[in-house]
Amino acid sequence: DLHGTHVVITAGGTREPIDAVRVIANRSTGKQGYAIATEAVARGAKVTLISTSDLPTPFGVNLVQVETAQQMMDAVNTEAKSADVVVMAAAVADVRPVHAAMHKLKKDPLTGLICDLGSIELEATPDILAGLGKCKPAGQVLVGFAAETENLVANAQSKLERKGADLIVANDVSQAGVGFAHATNAVTLVARGTEPVEVALADKRSIARSILNAVVAIRSARTN
Ligand code: C5P
Repeated sequence: DLHGTHVVITAGGTREPIDAVRVIANRSTGKQGYAIATEAVARGAKVTLISTSDLPTPFGVNLVQVETAQQMMDAVNTEAKSADVVVMAAAVADVRPVHAAMHKLKKDPLTGLICDLGSIELEATPDILAGLGKCKPAGQVLVGFAAETENLVANAQSKLERKGADLIVANDVSQAGVGFAHATNAVTLVARGTEPVEVALADKRSIARSILNAVVAIRSARTN
């Protein structure tokens, strides 16, 4: 049911350089994004996976390897122009160092402190999903993720509006077996004009199936 479509998926956590060897990172492994990519190929889509992860590339997927939020945004903006579906499963860093040193910052031999790292000046990264939501081509389905620890549905609903997405996949990352690095996930699918749908704890491929079922339902509601 995705035959003939181009599906663009992001996965993994971005890494924002502090110096030549150090980065600001997060705990995302990319497993959920890779499961969505595998499921989308199985359902007939042409899939572009824009990833920071070193998981094995799923069969039939066109992989674009990136590291930073900026690189991810450049790749997504290029690919999204021809995409029928964009799934922003990546955990994009919210902030990045304003200046990344080209060399390795040195430790003070007396205190052991990395002297140049006494404070790191940070700036916000661009919000890739919100940018896509602002110039979404007609017919494209835009999917965002929301990792929450409270008020799951209300936060997802406001994210849906704020970012111009069509579907938000919300997960309560305070629950056991949910979200980052786990083989399983449990999500609530929040879309416009329909009741939120709870998807119980399951392996990430099953969750991917439910997410793409919701995408297909949005696409067919538009054409009917
Ligand atoms: O605002 P928050 O980080 O909770 O939003 C999560 C969603 O927004 C995810 O789909 C994530 O991929 C996307 N995002 C983004 N660019 C950012 C931060 C988040 O595209 N700078």
